[in-house]
Amino acid sequence: MSDGRALAREFLEQQKLLGGESVILPDGPAPGLRPGSVTSPSSVVELTPGASPGKPEGLPPVGLSYDPPTSDLFSTDPVPQAPSLAAIAQLVAKCTKCRLCEARRHAVPGEGADDARLVVVGEGPGRVEDETGRPFVGPAGELLTKILAAIELPRERVFICNVVKCRPPENRVPQYDEIAACVPYLFRQIELVKPAVILAMGGTAAQTLLNTKQSLGALRNQVHRLRGIPVIVTYHPAALLRNPNWKKPTWDDVRIARRFID
Ligand code: URA
Ligand code: SF4
Repeated sequence: MSDGRALAREFLEQQKLLGGESVILPDGPAPGLRPGSVTSPSSVVELTPGASPGKPEGLPPVGLSYDPPTSDLFSTDPVPQAPSLAAIAQLVAKCTKCRLCEARRHAVPGEGADDARLVVVGEGPGRVEDETGRPFVGPAGELLTKILAAIELPRERVFICNVVKCRPPENRVPQYDEIAACVPYLFRQIELVKPAVILAMGGTAAQTLLNTKQSLGALRNQVHRLRGIPVIVTYHPAALLRNPNWKKPTWDDVRIARRFID
C-alpha cells in the first residue's frame, strides 16, 4: 500500500472513531492498477477497529463484561432493595460500614437526574465535595462540567457519583475494603438509573466497575459492559488538570460515550 493510502486509511479510521461517516476502502492496490493483481484474501476491509457483526459501526472493540450479583428475594440488606436514589442517599448519610465515615463532614452520595442516560463515576469525594456534600464541585468538577457541556450534556441531565461516598483522608486512593463496603450503593444507583452508558473516570472507577486490576491504559478504548450497560473508561479530570496531554484522548473517549446516548 502506498504511503498516501496508508495515511488516508489512518485518517479515516480516526474520523470514524470520532463519530465521522462510515467509509469503506478497498484493501487492495490503488485504483488504476490492473484488477486481479490483488493477493490479499479479503478484497474489502471495513474501517472499523474491532468490527464484529451486530456491533454499531466505528466503536472500539468489545472489552470486559461484569455482572455483580443483584438483590436476592430473601436478603434483608436494605441497600440492594432501596426503592429510589433518595433512599440510597439517606442510607449513605448515616453509613458507618467503613473507616471513611470517621473523618467525613458530609457523605457525598451523588446527584443528578434519576432517569439520566449517562452515569459518570469518579473515585471519591475531595475536599470541596466533603464540605458541600456534592460530587465533583471542586476544580476537577469544574473541568467535568466543561467536558459534559462540550458534548451538549448539561450536568443536570447526568447522574454523577463516586465509587466511595466519603472522602479518603488527604485524598488518598480508597482502599480495597473501603471500596468493597461502599460499592453496593453504586451498583444499586446504576440499577435504579438504568443509564444508556457509564463513563468511568480514572483507574479506581474503571477497575471497580469492571472488577479487574487492569490499568487504565489497558482498559481505555474498548466498550466494556456492566450488567449489559456499556462502560467507557477515560482519564480522571483531576489527572487532566495535572497532564493536559490527556485532554485529547479524553475527548475521544467522551465522544464515544456520547454515541450511546441518543
Ligand atoms: N474527584 C472525584 O473522583 N470525585 C469527586 O466527586 C471529586 C473529585
Ligand atoms: Fe459507608 Fe461508603 Fe462512607 Fe464507607 S465510604 S462509610 S461504606 S458510605
